[in-house]
Amino acid sequence: MWKLDWRIVLCVILVASQVKDASQVKITRHTVPDFVESGKEDFVILDCDYDLEKTPSEGLVVKWFRNEVELVYQWINARDEKDTDGWKKPQSVPPFDKYVDLRYKASEDKSKMWRAIKLRNPTPELTGNYTCTVFGVAGNEATSKKPMVVYSTGKNFSLIQSKKSVNGTEGVELTCFAEDLYPRPNLQIYVEGVEQIQRPEVTQSVDNMLYAISSRILLKDKDLPEEVTVGCNLTIPEARYSVSDDSVYYPGSPITTTTATTTLQRKMDIQASDNSQPDTVIGGGNAVSSIPNGLMILLVNTLVVCSSIF
Ligand SMILES: *[C@@H]1O[C@H](CO)[C@@H](O)[C@H](O)[C@H]1NC(C)=O
Ligand SMILES: *[C@@H]1O[C@H](CO)[C@@H](O)[C@H](O)[C@H]1NC(C)=O
Ligand SMILES: *[C@@H]1O[C@H](CO)[C@@H](O)[C@H](O)[C@H]1NC(C)=O
Ligand SMILES: *[C@@H]1O[C@H](CO)[C@@H](O)[C@H](O)[C@H]1NC(C)=O
Repeated sequence: MWKLDWRIVLCVILVASQVKDASQVKITRHTVPDFVESGKEDFVILDCDYDLEKTPSEGLVVKWFRNEVELVYQWINARDEKDTDGWKKPQSVPPFDKYVDLRYKASEDKSKMWRAIKLRNPTPELTGNYTCTVFGVAGNEATSKKPMVVYSTGKNFSLIQSKKSVNGTEGVELTCFAEDLYPRPNLQIYVEGVEQIQRPEVTQSVDNMLYAISSRILLKDKDLPEEVTVGCNLTIPEARYSVSDDSVYYPGSPITTTTATTTLQRKMDIQASDNSQPDTVIGGGNAVSSIPNGLMILLVNTLVVCSSIF
């Protein structure tokens, strides 16, 4: 029969104490602006602060990805004789390199100096989910993901009335359009008291990803009251942006008299910095199938300690 060996007990205690002491890199703060208006900001900063706990900082790697797989930026905290101060500098890759300011220091602390990204003149091209991954030297890593939408409210948003013959009777054509929008916009023409069902036409530019949108309806004067409010709503749901333009249409009278009564009403509903969304921080080692390096070192250490007891 098995007798409880004191050496096994000691070994178990040793393993337990070492596991408890195993240092883990932790992300303490991950800040990414939720919404950025294209053309309005000179730059934005995506930051990722961490706590190295007891792990050494030399050999630390900080990587930023967009949409999980696209590498944006990386910094390896390692010596490099070729570099000016003897340490490696951060790097960025296309298409992000044209935005990244590689001189930006997030901190004077050498173990955190190059952790953040400064993106100059952000455009819709930068929209996506940004993941910051910190790889500690002991093999463990920490990850956090946050979205950033760089939106464009576009130009030339307007609703135009033009007299038209509609199926042989007097009427009006209402056209609403806008250009240079991002992300995907929606647009609806509305007529006071009349239900309108439309499918706006949306096109996207291959060059700069910007959308153009337009919608058109025809109305017969005899179906309308003496004066009627007509309008158009433009929304960019993903950017929580909406704007509307309305005017009064007088059936039967020449269209030119109505332009003076056109009112433009703009409404912006951007929740400035909605940081209520919790970080999706995944600490510690990753896959179950692979033993992280740190744990491997720990196991080897324990084995050495344990074997010396027996
Ligand atoms: C971020 O990822 C989520 C889930 O995949 C997706 O629904 C969302 O549109 C993404 N956000 C951005 C800004 O790309
Ligand atoms: C759109 O607006 C710009 C100025 O913002 C103007 O130069 C251009 O002619 C307009 N285009 C249309 C189709 O109205
Ligand atoms: C004009 O006639 C067509 C064909 O009969 C019809 O589908 C359409 O709804 C009419 N338009 C209006 C504004 O009544
Ligand atoms: C458009 O905006 C008007 C005024 O703000 C509102 O009454 C209407 O419900 C909106 N329609 C749509 C389709 O969003």
